[in-house]
Amino acid sequence: MAFTIAIDGPAASGKGTIAKRVAAHYGFGHLDTGLLYRAVGRRMLDGAEPIAAARALEAADLGDAAALRSAEAGQAASKVAAIPEVRAALLDFQRAFARRSGGAVLDGRDIGTVICPDAEAKIFVTASAEVRAERRFRELVAGGAETRFEDVLQDIRDRDERDMGRADAPLRPADDATEIDTSRLDIETAVAAAIAAVEAAR
Ligand code: C5P
Repeated sequence: MAFTIAIDGPAASGKGTIAKRVAAHYGFGHLDTGLLYRAVGRRMLDGAEPIAAARALEAADLGDAAALRSAEAGQAASKVAAIPEVRAALLDFQRAFARRSGGAVLDGRDIGTVICPDAEAKIFVTASAEVRAERRFRELVAGGAETRFEDVLQDIRDRDERDMGRADAPLRPADDATEIDTSRLDIETAVAAAIAAVEAAR
């Protein structure tokens, strides 16, 4: 039976880690939908037209996840994500994934509101912009990147503004989503809260 778990939230809220851990807990497939927009954003930076790039996107294009995780690809992703035709082109792939037998976890910005409004469980993960920037900054420094905290915070704020302000599928919690604020939670506690929310929906 298909059982879909929708996990949405802003950049660096912890939704990706939570989604991965929840999927492992249930033995479900996991789709990080941000990678779709990042792959289209990457193509745009390389000179492609974003709508055509979204229509031509294939699962194989998501293989090089590390290259798609750069701040540059993230900014480009949030620009192409505001184009309705780009979002429409990526819809079927996401819905097909959600219907996989054996269950699926999708994380993104509009999974509970637009992609899977009938998802059995919906979770909205938040944290303050400062806490999210601090996490992203530490990750980048640990990975050897030279960056300033102020720049990381600005990047997060820019993306929040673009993601929440766009007309088509803006970032917002679904009415029936359980909200988890991870500002003061460690990852174990946040994952446990997410699993508890899924259990309540089963
Ligand atoms: O989650 P991640 O930071 O990888 O997403 C990159 C960008 O892709 C986001 O800032 C957002 O603009 C866009 N996105 C989206 N809808 C989704 C997932 C990501 O608009 N479901």
